[in-house]
Amino acid sequence: MSKSVRKKPAAPKKPVAPRKPAAGKKPVAAKKAAAVKAAGMAKQPDIAPLLTVSDIHTYYGDSHVLQGVSLDVKPGECVALLGRNGAGKTTTLRSIVSLTPVRRGHVGFDGLDITHSPTHRIIREGIGYVPEDRGIFSSLSVREHLDIALWAAKKPPERRDEVLKIFPRISERLEHFGQQLSGGEQQMLSIARALLAEPRLLILDEPSEGLAPIIVDEVRDTLARVKKTGTSILLVEQNVAMALALADRVVVLSQGMVQFTGTPAELEAQPDVKDTYLGIA
Ligand SMILES: Nc1ncnc2c1ncn2[C@@H]1O[C@H](COP(=O)(O)OP(=O)(O)OP(=O)(O)O)[C@@H](O)[C@H]1O
Ligand SMILES: [Mg+2]
Repeated sequence: MSKSVRKKPAAPKKPVAPRKPAAGKKPVAAKKAAAVKAAGMAKQPDIAPLLTVSDIHTYYGDSHVLQGVSLDVKPGECVALLGRNGAGKTTTLRSIVSLTPVRRGHVGFDGLDITHSPTHRIIREGIGYVPEDRGIFSSLSVREHLDIALWAAKKPPERRDEVLKIFPRISERLEHFGQQLSGGEQQMLSIARALLAEPRLLILDEPSEGLAPIIVDEVRDTLARVKKTGTSILLVEQNVAMALALADRVVVLSQGMVQFTGTPAELEAQPDVKDTYLGIA
């Protein structure tokens, strides 16, 4: 294995200390994201990460699934988390939002230690989670899905109009029920719903799964529009081409360990990584 293939998890610069943001004060990373967006310098390496996953270990019963996963996502950045079936991608996302408890290690978000925070609080802090199963209700209309999410996020109706600008297809189907939507439309609705709360980080679990190639392109273009609004993205994908089209950086997982971290160009230059851990030459 070449030197840069297997990276040791980087130690966090300093321990993530619990912090309570002052009431009414704009969070630090939100300010940074705005500054980054304004300056058009999303890829500057010295910007503090919005999300920091430090050496996390997660188990299902006695099964030690994540064995020291570390990664970070900077403000405005899209990071793709890639790997074969069973590599631990979903478990990493579930660990970040506390749906599966982390036994060792830390998850930090905008300077706050969220490792053991309840999921609803993590969502409120500004992480939007789009799970693999999309979570669309067959007997609720598109409008009802969005209204419930608006209400839960305590956002005004104008926020729905803002989000729908990114989803022209969904805005044409507001009165359709979940069961009447195609797989692609359900995926778009699931992403739109997560965005209503104005998350600073959107994490998505295989949004392209089960979709026809032309719809995958639509999802990709939609996520590109989301990224343009300044929202950071952590994207789990099996569709490597789609992920690389969006990602600023790539993390490759295998057997619950990070095997590679680098830019898409650096991954391209490592055919052994692509072959061994992604099954593509
Ligand atoms: N609820 C569970 N109970 C026990 N083991 C589980 C559970 N969920 C996942 N695992 C195991 O944990 C490992 C990682 O699974 P995970 O779902 O995180 O992989 P993944 O990379 O998301 O795979 P896929 O590409 O198939 O979605 C696998 O070996 C899987 O069998
Ligand atoms: Mg998965």
